[in-house]
Amino acid sequence: MMRAELRLLEREAVAGDVADLETAECECFADPWPGRFFWAEMNAPARFCRIVVDPAGRLAGYLFCAWHYLDLHVLKIATLPAFRRQGLARRLMALAEEHVRECCGETVTLEVRQSNAGAKSLYSSLGYQEKGLRRKYYADGEDAVVMTKVPQGRDMIGVDHETVG
Ligand SMILES: CC(C)(COP(=O)(O)OP(=O)(O)OC[C@H]1O[C@@H](n2cnc3c(N)ncnc32)[C@H](O)[C@@H]1OP(=O)(O)O)[C@@H](O)C(=O)NCCC(=O)NCCS
Repeated sequence: MMRAELRLLEREAVAGDVADLETAECECFADPWPGRFFWAEMNAPARFCRIVVDPAGRLAGYLFCAWHYLDLHVLKIATLPAFRRQGLARRLMALAEEHVRECCGETVTLEVRQSNAGAKSLYSSLGYQEKGLRRKYYADGEDAVVMTKVPQGRDMIGVDHETVG
């Protein structure tokens, strides 16, 4: 079955989005970030903070990343429930990878809850590889799986990545 194409607009996240992000967090995560975390990320150096809105201006998804040397680290990615399974998270991850290529970075890395099968399936389908575990990474004690990818079009020569665990 063909899916109707989502008419969505992507743009940089700004201070005026914080209230919507805070509400969205409660719909998307059991351990939501408070709004001030988003505000701090938007105002920190070496960040890549994007939101996606529908034609009515409603928040559909968001992506917050931070550069760690040549690695773009995904701190947050979420699609609001009404917009799921329509390729939006895939599109957000493509933005992150495009940003890495534009900035001559090397990798995209993220942590995902071991129990988050949907997100792990998303990242695997995009070519992310499991690199190890961060034990008790989340406040409730759950481990995080670390996943990473060298975006296509990047040649990585002589870079030895830290093994985590
Ligand atoms: C995980 C999440 C970001 C996926 O967003 P999405 O926009 O629905 O994802 P997409 O539509 O781009 O999915 C792309 C592919 O990922 C996989 N996928 C996504 N969600 C999935 C799910 N719930 N179960 C199984 N596979 C899933 C599928 O392979 C999917 O392709 P398909 O729809 O053609 O089968 C979204 O469910 C979400 O925001 N969850 C809560 C927050 C969260 O867990 N964030 C990730 C933290 S690491």
